[in-house]
Parts: sequence; structure tokens; C-alpha cells
Amino acid sequence: MHYVATKICRAGEIGLNGNLFGGTMLSWLDEAGAAFAGYLCRAPNMVTLKMDEVLFRRPVKISHHVRIYARVVRVGTSSLTIEVEARRFDFDQEQEELVCSTRMVYVKIDDQGQAVPIEERLRASMNQSLNDRTQRT
Ligand SMILES: CC(C)(COP(=O)(O)OP(=O)(O)OC[C@H]1O[C@@H](n2cnc3c(N)ncnc32)[C@H](O)[C@@H]1OP(=O)(O)O)[C@@H](O)C(=O)NCCC(=O)NCCS
Repeated sequence: MHYVATKICRAGEIGLNGNLFGGTMLSWLDEAGAAFAGYLCRAPNMVTLKMDEVLFRRPVKISHHVRIYARVVRVGTSSLTIEVEARRFDFDQEQEELVCSTRMVYVKIDDQGQAVPIEERLRASMNQSLNDRTQRT
């Protein structure tokens, strides 16, 4: 997967139980996914169409570093399906632990908000990378 961003859990982002709000994590995933999709499609105007189920497997506490990774799993005409993963970094063990993951669909839109095709050469290159990855596994 590709590293996209690190988020640090701040005091204002936790609830009474001391855990990060789930909604904050969703916005981190969405932002990272949109940044990744926008970069790959060379387009800032990618909108979130869909987010799959998200299971919060481990809590995130104040000052935890959360690293977000992403990879393309499907290239459509105007859409990109991206797998996004959040991992908590344990500084003592120097290892990452999965917090949650999901699939998200982003759509490229024009100035009127209508879906438009992602550039053909970019789609071809993403499809090539997908094929290469499938052959390696
Ligand atoms: C994104 C949006 C422009 C798509 O409009 P639309 O009329 O459904 O457009 P289309 O029918 O052309 O579909 C666009 C793409 O979404 C895909 N799509 C539609 N429904 C889907 C679904 N349930 N799951 C996965 N992909 C889906 C289509 O297959 C198409 O992809 P493709 O071009 O790669 O084949 C429109 O739904 C929208 O503006 N949504 C709000 C986005 C937003 O504001 N998000 C922020 C959160 S509120």
C-alpha cells in the first residue's frame, strides 16, 4: 500500500471514554482517500460517492500517531475504488497495528458537478499497475 498521511490524535478529538471519535477517523480516511485519488487522477475535483463498512478494531488515544495507507483496487471510467487503511504506530514496539480499513469510491466531476471520465492515459497506467500487482500475488 502507499503511505498517504499521518494524523496525530488531539485532546479535542476524543470522547469521555478517552477514545478518538469514530467520525473523526472517518473524515481522516475520506481526506486521505480523496488526496490519493486526486493525485492519481491529476484532478482536485474528486468527490466521495461511497464508503464501505468500517470496523474500528483498536482504540486510538491522545497523542497516538495514525498512519493512513491506500491503494487502487478498481479503475472505472469516472470512478476510482480505493482501499484505505489506518494503522496506529506503536513507538515502543516500532510497529504498526491495524485500526480500521474500508473501500471508498471517488468520482471525478466537472465544474457543473457531473461525472466525467478520468484521463485515458492515467486510467491505462493505473490498470497496468493493478495487473502487475495481480500477477505478483
Ligand atoms: C458523484 C456523483 C456526481 C455521481 O453522479 P451519478 O449521476 O451517479 O453519475 P454516474 O451515474 O455517471 O456514475 C458515476 C460513477 O459512479 C459509479 N457508481 C454509481 N453508483 C455506484 C455504487 N453504488 N457503487 C459504486 N459505484 C457507483 C458509476 O458506475 C460511475 O462510475 P464509472 O464512470 O467508473 O463507471 C453524484 O452522485 C454526486 O454528486 N454525489 C455527491 C458527492 C458528494 O458530495 N460527496 C461528498 C459527501 S456528501
